[in-house]
Amino acid sequence: MNSYDEKIGKLPENTPLLRIGSVQLDGCAFLAPMSGVTDLYMRRIARRFGASLVVSEMVASDEYVRGDVETRLRAEGTGVEPHVVQIAGSVGYWMGEAARLAEASGAAIVDINMGCPAKRVTGGAAGSALMRDLDHALSLIEATVKAVKIPVTLKMRLGWDHDSLNAAELAQKAEKSGIQLVTVHGRTRQQFYTGKADWQAIAAVKDAVKIPVIANGDCSTVADAVRMQQLSHADGVMIGRSAVGRPWFIGEVAHFQRFGYERAGPSADERAASAIEHLSGLVGQMGSLKGLRHARKHLAAYAERAIFDGFHVPDHIKSSLVTSESVEHVMALLDELFAAPGLRNVA
Ligand SMILES: Cc1cc2nc3c(=O)[nH]c(=O)nc-3n(C[C@H](O)[C@H](O)[C@H](O)COP(=O)(O)O)c2cc1C
Repeated sequence: MNSYDEKIGKLPENTPLLRIGSVQLDGCAFLAPMSGVTDLYMRRIARRFGASLVVSEMVASDEYVRGDVETRLRAEGTGVEPHVVQIAGSVGYWMGEAARLAEASGAAIVDINMGCPAKRVTGGAAGSALMRDLDHALSLIEATVKAVKIPVTLKMRLGWDHDSLNAAELAQKAEKSGIQLVTVHGRTRQQFYTGKADWQAIAAVKDAVKIPVIANGDCSTVADAVRMQQLSHADGVMIGRSAVGRPWFIGEVAHFQRFGYERAGPSADERAASAIEHLSGLVGQMGSLKGLRHARKHLAAYAERAIFDGFHVPDHIKSSLVTSESVEHVMALLDELFAAPGLRNVA
């Protein structure tokens, strides 16, 4: 046992691997869906580093079915296995058709969004607004489950506000309607992203159902993941913001869950390769300028994470990464950042 294990304790050996209906997973740590962030390349890279499951950005079910080009790109899954498409909406017909389209396009799982707090989504009676109307929520779940043969999962919050913590009730009803896994973000809709996720409150959902439950919210270290599972009794964890600029983190959690010790972090070469693959993927998908602009949030996060992990990142690199309009220039900066002699950390 190393000192890290002594500090945070170990999960039981032989932690069972998760199965979602017919889909066998190779671990219990998931990448959260994040609009504008979990593009195809982020999902591919995270999965390659060992994330057990990665979920597409939410797609509006009607726009997806109608063929909106950007929406279709968000649901792309080439090279991602198993591929999960997250759908959102408030009309059963579109939810069913979107699930059918995702299945026909190669998705192994469809996830339903009942957690998004954004006013533009809740205003349309979708996302977390559905937690205020469980009958309507269930009608959407039933329309989705009925439309496909692949498993359907559900992501939600603890409730709309602290006076209506109904995640356990929704999960139980959803299970009866055929949902095969639920993920719970340990906040209410009214909290948006303020305060701290309540991992213990997720235990009520776990107690209410037999299907796997995944805990989500504010997990930024391996120790957090262990604590989160201990408090929530969840079968796995889902990680969002802490994986931005750090797509290897979820694989690190999955590794710890399985083997009980921490694996070494990524090398400088692996960091460089990830950032460059991410950028070139987006440029290939969206074209030079659009791809580069979309990549900026990731590039800034790769640089921030490098600083956090002890790399020296000169100011000119940090600022040019997010202002340069030349793909070649940015590629050269990434090479310089991670490969120049003297700039590497030696850990
Ligand atoms: C920029 C951003 C976009 C998000 N988009 C989605 C989304 O499309 N679908 C969804 O279910 N949740 C979405 N979320 C919520 C996350 O999946 C996750 O529940 C939340 O960030 C809490 O987890 P974390 O603390 O690990 O980030 C988003 C969160 C962020 C920060």
